[in-house]
Formats: sequence, structure tokens, C-alpha cells
Amino acid sequence: MLTTLLVLALAVAAPAGAPQPSGAAARPVVPTSQRIVLVTGSTDGLGRDVARRLAADGAHVIIHGRNAERGKAVVDEIGKGGKGSARFYQADFASLAEVRRLADEITRDYPRLDLLVNNAGVFIREGERQVSKDGHELTFAVNYLSGYLLTYKLLPLIEKGRSPRIVNVSSLSAAPIDFADVMIERNYSGNRAYGQSKLSQVLFTIDLAAELKPKGIVVQSLHPATYMDTTMVRSGGMTPRSTVAEGADAVMNAIATDAPSGTYFVGQKIGTPHAQAADADARRQLREVSKKLTGVP
Ligand SMILES: NC(=O)c1ccc[n+]([C@@H]2O[C@H](COP(=O)([O-])OP(=O)(O)OC[C@H]3O[C@@H](n4cnc5c(N)ncnc54)[C@H](OP(=O)(O)O)[C@@H]3O)[C@@H](O)[C@H]2O)c1
Repeated sequence: MLTTLLVLALAVAAPAGAPQPSGAAARPVVPTSQRIVLVTGSTDGLGRDVARRLAADGAHVIIHGRNAERGKAVVDEIGKGGKGSARFYQADFASLAEVRRLADEITRDYPRLDLLVNNAGVFIREGERQVSKDGHELTFAVNYLSGYLLTYKLLPLIEKGRSPRIVNVSSLSAAPIDFADVMIERNYSGNRAYGQSKLSQVLFTIDLAAELKPKGIVVQSLHPATYMDTTMVRSGGMTPRSTVAEGADAVMNAIATDAPSGTYFVGQKIGTPHAQAADADARRQLREVSKKLTGVP
């Protein structure tokens, strides 16, 4: 139970606003109303609330998920809101081919991408280890590897973005990556798989922030809130402790903050991630694994 408690955690409220790039190349700040944004996993839960908020600020929001019916419902709702606009794209992140196709479709359809929120995720609390369509441990594939591939595939579009920013929705949950067994073939548990995938996002954020600093692209990660009232929490048999709105406040803060690129937030406060995040050799190893599994960059 204690481990599970660490899986998900807290937040308060803060205003949204235009992002301030902290990279070397200063770029003009763009009002949220003119932004083109992609929120992965925005057919439900936290991602849907963030998508609604960005659209309410006037942004064009690319809605993503597997469930076309829920995707259409979010697009329709945003359309009726009369501020921003939205369009749904379907892709199952349990397949790297589908991630590549999604990136190709977005690259075909949009001139630039101002904000990418890597939010789609699963927490498979019970049951046997599962694998993705590529044969990778499923939680690692959906929560981390798909976001890694999507980010690099969309990078040319993000480079054309205005005040471009990437926000990785991670968690307080963290299980150190065992580089001898990244696919967790030994001692599998749903908590370990979730914690490994979420810590991988934090290592990736730090690494990517350094890489993209000369391009003026900001990369942040965060733990949104603990046990939000979402499908993930309810279907995992956990009792919600915080609202989706609290988590969305934290994501909007990570979108707007002028904290240095590569910062990890817990809610809206700067947090200290698991010690492995500070290990440059671990980050190098994760990059090597990710490159090998996805073929990028
Ligand atoms: N809930 C919490 O308390 C909590 C705490 C810390 C961190 N987080 C993180 O916050 C993020 C959102 O979680 P949530 O609680 O909002 O979860 P949720 O309500 O279950 O929503 C998950 C979203 O991800 C999409 N998704 C799931 N599997 C997918 C797949 N294989 N391919 C493509 N899309 C997929 C779902 O869309 P479809 O069903 O349409 O595919 C849905 O839109 C996750 O990254 C989670 O790890 C949550």
C-alpha cells in the first residue's frame, strides 16, 4: 500500500500564461490564444482537462488517444465552447508504428507545434507482465518509449514552434531503472513497471533540456497531483485524494513557468526527483536503450 501511495501525489493552483523560453536563443513570447498544442492522452482524465483549459485560452488543441468516441466528444465540446479549436488523432502507444504514423500525420497537417504535453499513460496495478506490439514491457512502452519517439519525430515541427515547450507528465512514483533488465523480465510488478516508466521520463527531461537549450526549446517534467479522481486511479482500485483540477493546475504551471529548462515539479513546487535522475551515466544508458529500441535520434 505504501508503495502504491508513492505511485501518484499533490498540488495547488496557479495561473496559466505564455511560456518564457530559458534557452540560449531568445524567442518572442506567444499568447496562448495563438498556440498549436498536442496533448497526448487527452480523451480522458488529466489530459482532457488540460486540453479544455488550453482551448479555453484560444489554442488549437490536437486531441489524442485510442478511444475515437471520447476523442470526438472532447473535440465537440471544445467546438461548442467557442474559443479554441480541436481535432482528434487516434494512435495506440502500445505500438511504435502507430506513434510514427501519428507524428507523420501531425507533421503533414500542421506548420509548427508550439507545445507538446506527453501525458498519455497507464498504470497496470494487477496481473501478469504484458508486452507491447513491439515486444517491449507494456508500461515502459506506453508511458515512456512512445513519448521519447514522438518527441524526436515531432522535433522538426517543434523547432518551428513559437516559444516551443515540451512538458512530460511524470509522477512521484519512481523505481530505479535496472539497465540489465529494462524490460523487467525478473521480479515484475505493476508498481515497479510504473515507477520505472515515470522515472525514465524525468531522466529524459533532464537530458533533452540540455540538448535543446541551444534551440530555445524548454522541457519540463512534473508530478501533477496524488491519486486524482481519474480512470487510472479508480480502475486501479485506489481511492481518489485529489481532483483532476489540481493536477491540471500543476500542468498549466509547468507550461507557463519561467523556471530553468529541465526542472522537475511536484505539483507547482520545484521537487527533487529520485537520485538516479542526477546520475549522468544512467541518463546516458537510458538514451542508448531508447535509441536502440526506437531508432531515433
Ligand atoms: N491519476 C493520478 O493521480 C496521477 C498521478 C501522477 C501522475 N499521473 C500521470 O498523469 C497522466 C494522466 O493520467 P490520468 O490519471 O489522467 O489517466 P487516465 O484518466 O486513465 O487517462 C489516460 C489517458 O491516456 C490515454 N492512453 C492510455 N493508454 C494509451 C495507449 N496505449 N495509447 C494511447 N493513449 C493511451 C487514454 O486514452 P484512451 O483510453 O482513449 O486510449 C487517456 O486519454 C499519466 O501519465 C499518469 O501517469 C497520474
